[in-house]
This record gives sequence, C-alpha cells and structure tokens, in this order.
Amino acid sequence: MSEQRLSIDYALSMADGVGTGNGVSRAALTAEAQAFKLGHARLAQEVAQGKLGFFKLPSDLAQVEACDRVVAAHGQGIEDVLVLGIGGSSLGARAAVTALASPLSGSVHGQGRRLHFPDNSDPWLFGALLNALDPKKTLALVISKSGGTVETAAQMLCVREWFTQKLGNDALPRHLIAITDPESGSLRAFANEAKLTTLPIPSNVGGRFCVLTAAGLLPLRLAGLDAAGLLRGATQMAARCEDADLLKNPAGVLAAIHVLHTRLFDHRMHVLIPYADALRPFAAWFVQLWAESLGKRIDRKGRVVEVGPTPIPAVGATDQHAQVQLFIEGPRDKLVTFIAVDEVAHDVPIPKNEGDLSYLSGLGMAQLLEAERRGTALALARNGRPSLTIRLPRLDAVQLGALFFLFEAATAYAGELLDIDAFDQPGVEEGKHLAFGLMGRKGYENHKRDVLDLEASLANDLRV
Ligand code: PA5
Repeated sequence: MSEQRLSIDYALSMADGVGTGNGVSRAALTAEAQAFKLGHARLAQEVAQGKLGFFKLPSDLAQVEACDRVVAAHGQGIEDVLVLGIGGSSLGARAAVTALASPLSGSVHGQGRRLHFPDNSDPWLFGALLNALDPKKTLALVISKSGGTVETAAQMLCVREWFTQKLGNDALPRHLIAITDPESGSLRAFANEAKLTTLPIPSNVGGRFCVLTAAGLLPLRLAGLDAAGLLRGATQMAARCEDADLLKNPAGVLAAIHVLHTRLFDHRMHVLIPYADALRPFAAWFVQLWAESLGKRIDRKGRVVEVGPTPIPAVGATDQHAQVQLFIEGPRDKLVTFIAVDEVAHDVPIPKNEGDLSYLSGLGMAQLLEAERRGTALALARNGRPSLTIRLPRLDAVQLGALFFLFEAATAYAGELLDIDAFDQPGVEEGKHLAFGLMGRKGYENHKRDVLDLEASLANDLRV
C-alpha cells in the first residue's frame, strides 16, 4: 500500500546511490541544515511582516467562494473561456487545468468548459480563436499581476473590441473578468472604469507564485474542477514545510539537493521529467518559476555572482526517445527529477498476445510507464547520473496542490541557500524597454534609437 501523501525519494542523488564524485554525501547535506534553518527563519520573518504572500494562500478558502460567485454570475451559457495572460498569469492555470481535466479537453461536459491559453502575442492561435469562437458563449479572463504587461494588454484590447463589435457596448462587463492587483496597475484602473467584475491577486504575491490565487482557481472552477482540493493539498504541504529541520522539510530537501549538486558538482541543468502527460504543462510552469527566480546577476550583498540553474522540461516516456540519451551519456551537468504517479484512475490493459510481445500480456499501460521510469532512473544511476523521484499517490487536486506548493517553497529556500533575491526579475526589463521604443511608446525614444543604431552597425556580410 503506497504512502497517501507526496514523498521525495532522493537516494539516487546521494553519494550512496551514484558514487562520491556524482552524489551528495550525507555529511554535506547535514552541513547545509544550518544555512537552511537560517533561511527558513528569515522567510518566516518576512511572512510575519506581510511579505511573500504565497505562503499564506493555501489556507485562504474564501478565494474559492469568490471564484464560485463569479462562475455563478458569469458562467451561464459559457462554453469557451479565453485566458488572457502570460508567464505566471497563464502557466499555473494551464498546468492545473490540464493536470485535472479530461484529456479530451476539446469537449464540453457537465460544468466543464473549453479553456484556451493563447499566452503569446503570436497571432497564429489568438487570431484563429477569435475567428472560431462564438462571443455569446465566450468568457474572457484577463489576468495580470502588474496590470501592465504589454502582451496581455494587446490581447485584452483585441478581445474588448471583438466583444463590443459583435455583442454591443453593454456586453463587456458580462463577458470580461479582470484578475489583477487589488489596487495598482493599468488593468485595475481599466476594470474600474469599465465596471468589470474583478478578483484579486494579493499585492504581496508575485506573478510566478500566483497559481493558488484566483489566477489559477477561477480557470479551475470554470472547468468544473476541484479548486478547494488544490488549496487543501497545498495546506498539507505548507504544514510540512513549517519544519525548520532540513531533513524533515520536503521543499527544503528538494532545494538543498539542487543547490548542493550545482555547487559541488556543477550540475546546473535541472531536468523535470514527469511520467504523466497531464503534467507536461506543470514542467513548463516549473521552468518559469525556477529560471526567473534563481537566475540572478547579483547576490544579496550586491556581489556579481551570475548564478542560476537551467531548468529543462521533459516528459516520460516520450523523452526517452529524445533527450534521455543526452542525459545518460552527455555532459555530466544534470540533475534529473522524476515525477511518478502511483495509482492512475483509468489504466488501459494491454491485450494478451503471443510471440515477441507476450511479455506485455496482462500489463497495463501505466505499469509499462512506471517500468520505463524505474529503468531510466537505474540506467542514469549506473552511469553516475544523479536523480530524485517525487512520488504522488495519485494525480488529483489534493496531490497537485501539494506539488505546486512544494516547488514554490523549494524555490524560496533555494534563493536563501544561494543568497539571492528569488522574488525579483530585473533582467527582463531591458528587452521590454527596447521593444517599447520600437513600438513608439512615449518616453522610450532613446531605446528605439539604440536598437536601430545597433542593427545598422551589424556587418552586412554576416548573413547567408
Ligand atoms: O513572475 C513574474 O512576475 C513574471 O514572470 C510574470 O508572471 C509575467 O511577466 C506576467 O506578468 P503579469 O502577471 O504582471 O502580467
């Protein structure tokens, strides 16, 4: 009988499992416990001061009630939901909905509706959606923590025009919901003026940490999925993460193993490979969380450190036929994290057969998948390649909530162990400002000139 809560098996990331040159010694892990304790206390103090609000979201069940009120008021007759957002304002919701919904997400069933995540300014999907959807049966959620993200703003302007042209001026408050900071930002101002229904992303919750706010919960409820279960699972994980003893804190262990592998062995490529199609978007969510939080130029003392692991999303068994060759024989710079699901709701039995494939007779597809995962973990270990496995008893809302919170807390702890600010993202600003210049935004004229000067100075002959 499997354990009924999420667990992390990290034996194959340790020297005991993969040898001293490839894995962390017990002594090194224990030695990290003191730094972890200090980081844990520092974070707790910040939370007590009202910062890092994501730590407190799991217990805020009123959020689900607020989402349900919106579903009751706006959901009737709605078959399609357009989620307008990018980065943390889209990835978490997509990961949550995909993990818990029917794989045939194109079909509308029960309370469920089709959800669309055109999280880009590329017209390819966005334009096709506006052509295909029926505005009368469509609800759009515009989600932006800052309220000023240009890609989301552009989509929102297009959708606003689409609704008003097709349904008239009065339609907007029925068909457009805004999820943003309770007070600040252009989206908040627009929503107030247009009298839109709004739900908050609390001011003290950062964009990539907002999956347990309305940004994740409302899409789930519109799909008829269990948002309360998600918060319950996150609450259970949050309780486990209250432990300042590193070896008893699952997110602490996850963070410390990753930081130690990077520091001691230069294992700076961090692969996340769920053996579950439903978790493919979860790996994409992890990529943003890990990369944007931990990739930093300066540490908290202002020294240039240029740290940060490179997260690599994968999925088993598909990537055994794509990336795993590289993981086993390529550069020794990787730490692989498997996600295994113990019990699947509907296995597909493989029919009895004779001959070469008779070994498959009587197995389920899920058994095949798990055998492949175990085989890959061992093959990695035999080649001195470290891994750890996060085990979910099953993939339901509760386990998923625990998984989301596990990674959020691990990200905060990794920031502590690396002594960097995991909650800012100064590096993404420069490119944005240069693009504003090109789009003619007032105040950004110099940036336009910079781009044009650079492009004009590039050697003409370096093009084939
Ligand atoms: O973590 C962050 O703050 C960012 O990556 C955001 O998620 C992303 O830029 C979208 O921002 P916003 O939600 O403000 O539109």
